Amino acid sequence: MKKTNPIGIFDSGIGGLTVAHQITKLMPNERIVYFGDTQHLPYGDKSAEAIKVYSKNITKFLIEQECKMVVIACNTASALAYKEVKECCKNLAIPLNVIDPVVNYTCTSNTKKVGIIGTKNTVTSNVYALKIKELNKGINATSLATPLLVPMIEEGFYKNKISSSIIANYLDNNRLNNIDHLILGCTHYPLIEDEIRQYYGGLVTIINSAKIVSQFVKKTLLEFNLLSTELSENPHQFFVSDYTVSFEQSAQYFFGERINLVEVKL
Ligand code: DGL
Repeated sequence: MKKTNPIGIFDSGIGGLTVAHQITKLMPNERIVYFGDTQHLPYGDKSAEAIKVYSKNITKFLIEQECKMVVIACNTASALAYKEVKECCKNLAIPLNVIDPVVNYTCTSNTKKVGIIGTKNTVTSNVYALKIKELNKGINATSLATPLLVPMIEEGFYKNKISSSIIANYLDNNRLNNIDHLILGCTHYPLIEDEIRQYYGGLVTIINSAKIVSQFVKKTLLEFNLLSTELSENPHQFFVSDYTVSFEQSAQYFFGERINLVEVKL
């Protein structure tokens, strides 16, 4: 592994771009290889078996691209397939999931009652509540599945009346009563962070995993002496398992007009 090797990042679709964007903002010398598994989107209601297979195939592909690190920029795959991704990475790349850094951050905050919103799979796995309890028994963690949000965001429905009303409908749920912090437990949700913030009118602190994960990526690269110190000559590379205009537009929104986007069937 060399410092100049890229960071591999994957998600079911555009959600992981929020993490990828923060990573490149915080570490401008890093080059990323992004894989959006648009063919299998959404991951939120697929079987655990299917998500394990997708995640293993993508990890192998990212390792073939010589990635020094594989970031599972998807809560669903982090919840269900981290073990498999770690096995594929062995000594070839450093595996990271998006859940552990957020749990650590939450446990050092001053929260008494934290809400978590995520896909059906992430919420059913109960991974956030279990990990939070392990580290800090004094925190009450309560999760709510918000399955309409990923398709809504993938379709470009955000910052409008429809999205605001769907978001309000979910956040009105009694499970989230009296929370002081809310974890965006899906990497798509930073795209609707402003609307969520508006709903709470400043009364609830929003925990955005994209920022927290990018800081953890930097810390880990420094620990392994793998943080790139020079600007890469090669551009970022984007792969999708099924080309969609909406993916291309979202990637352009974050990374500019000239992105290298290639469709690969794994
Ligand atoms: N961004 C993903 C997550 O964090 C994807 C969800 C989906 O594909 O349903 O869970």
